[in-house]
Amino acid sequence: MENFTFYAPTYFDFGRGAESHVAERIRQFGGTKVLFHYGGGSIRTSGLYDRVKDCLDEAGIPFVELGGVKPNPRSGLVYQGIELCRKEGVDFILAVGGGSVIDSAKAIAAGSVYEGDFLDFYRKKTPIEKALPVGTILTIAAAGSEGSGNTVITDEETQKKKGAKSDVLRPRFSILNPELTCTLPPYQTAAGATDIMIHVCERYFSNTEEVEITDRLCEGILRTVIYETPRVLENPNHYEARANLMWAGMLAHNNVCGVGREQDWASHHLEHELSALYDVTHGAGLAVIAPLWMRHVLKKNPRKLVDFATRVWDVPLDEANPEATALRGIEAFEAFLKSIGMPLSFEEIGARKEDIGQMTDKLFGGRDTEGNYVKLTREDVMEIYESAVRE
Ligand code: NZQ
Ligand code: ZN
Repeated sequence: MENFTFYAPTYFDFGRGAESHVAERIRQFGGTKVLFHYGGGSIRTSGLYDRVKDCLDEAGIPFVELGGVKPNPRSGLVYQGIELCRKEGVDFILAVGGGSVIDSAKAIAAGSVYEGDFLDFYRKKTPIEKALPVGTILTIAAAGSEGSGNTVITDEETQKKKGAKSDVLRPRFSILNPELTCTLPPYQTAAGATDIMIHVCERYFSNTEEVEITDRLCEGILRTVIYETPRVLENPNHYEARANLMWAGMLAHNNVCGVGREQDWASHHLEHELSALYDVTHGAGLAVIAPLWMRHVLKKNPRKLVDFATRVWDVPLDEANPEATALRGIEAFEAFLKSIGMPLSFEEIGARKEDIGQMTDKLFGGRDTEGNYVKLTREDVMEIYESAVRE
C-alpha cells in the first residue's frame, strides 16, 4: 500500500425525510445568506423545491435562487452564479439535485472568492485554495459529488469538459434521502449505477499490490450495485434497494476505495470527450467505453481483470487460461449493462466515427499517455473509440 492522506469531512444526514434538516445544517455550517442552486424541472415536479423553500422561509434564512443547471453543466451558468453570489453577499451554496447541480455549485463556490477566471482551476493554471461552503440535497445516486472534492464543467467556448478538485470543495453536509431518487427515469437510474461501478473500477484496476482492504471494499460495492440495480428497475419505489445504491454511490467516489493505490481514470477521460461533444449522459457514455477499455488492456495486463471476473462476476478460474477467465468477466459485465438498458456502441449514443481524431487530440492535449493500469498511447485510444463503431 502506498502512503496517503485522506480528509473527508462531510456531515451526512441519510434516510427518509432527511431533507427536513436542511436549515439546521446550513446554520451549523455558518450560512447566513444562501444561493439555492438547482437543475431543470425534476425538483419542482417532485415537490422538493417547495419543501426546501418552506424550510428556509420557516427558519428565516434569506436566499436567492439560480436554477437551470443542465446535465454536463456549462460554464455560462457558473459565471451567472458567481456574479449573483457577489452581488447578493451569499456566504453558503445549497445544491439540490444530481452531480451536475453539485458540480456547478462547487464551481460557483470557488469562483466567487477568486479574482481571476474560475476556468483557471479547470485549466490547471491555479489550485483551488478556498471556496464558499457548499451543502447538498442529492436526488440521484451516480456521480458521488455529494462526498467528493471533485467538480466537472464544460467550457462552452472550447467545448472541453474538464475536472478540478480540492478538499475545500467537499460539501460541508450532504442530505441523502433515498425516497427522493424514486422519481428517476429508468435510464437515469441505470446510467447512475454504471457511473458508480466505473468510479470503483477506476480505482480497482491498479498496479499497486497488497491492497486487500480497498480491493475488497471495491468488490463489495460492485456486487451491491449488480444486485440492487435490477431490483430498483423492477420496482422503482423499492426503498431498501434505492438506499443501498445511494450509499454505494457515495462510497464509490469519496476515495475511501482509492487511497493507497495507483488509480487509472482513462475510461472517464475518454467518456468526457463524448459527453462534451454529444451531450450524452455520463453513465451511458461510460457503458460504451469501459468494457472496450477492459478488452483493450486485457492482453497487456490481465491481472486485475482476472480478479474482476472471479470475485465480482463469480466466473470460475481457468488456471490454464486466465485471459479466457478475464474475458468471461468482461462479457458478464457487458451483458449486465445491456440488461439494465445501457448502450454499448457509438451508434446507440449518436457518436460518430469521423470525430474520433478530434476527440483524441482534445483528450491528449500536450500529454503522451493516458491512464495508469496500462499507459495508453494515442493509437490505443483511437483503437478503443474505433472498437465502439459497429457499422
Ligand atoms: O435537471 P433535472 O430536472 O433535475 O433532471 C435531472 C437530469 O436531467 C434528472 N434527475 C436528477 N434527479 C432526479 C432526476 N429526475 C427525476 N427524479 C430525480 N430524483 O437526471 C438527469 C441527470 O442529472 P445529473 O445531475 O446530470 O446526473 P449525475 O448525478 O449523473 O451527474 C452527471 C454529471 O456529473 C459529472 C458528470 O461528468 C456529469 O457532468 N461527474 C462528476 C463527478 C464528481 N463531481 O465527482 C464524477 C463523475 O465521474 C462525473 O464525471
Ligand atoms: Zn463518473
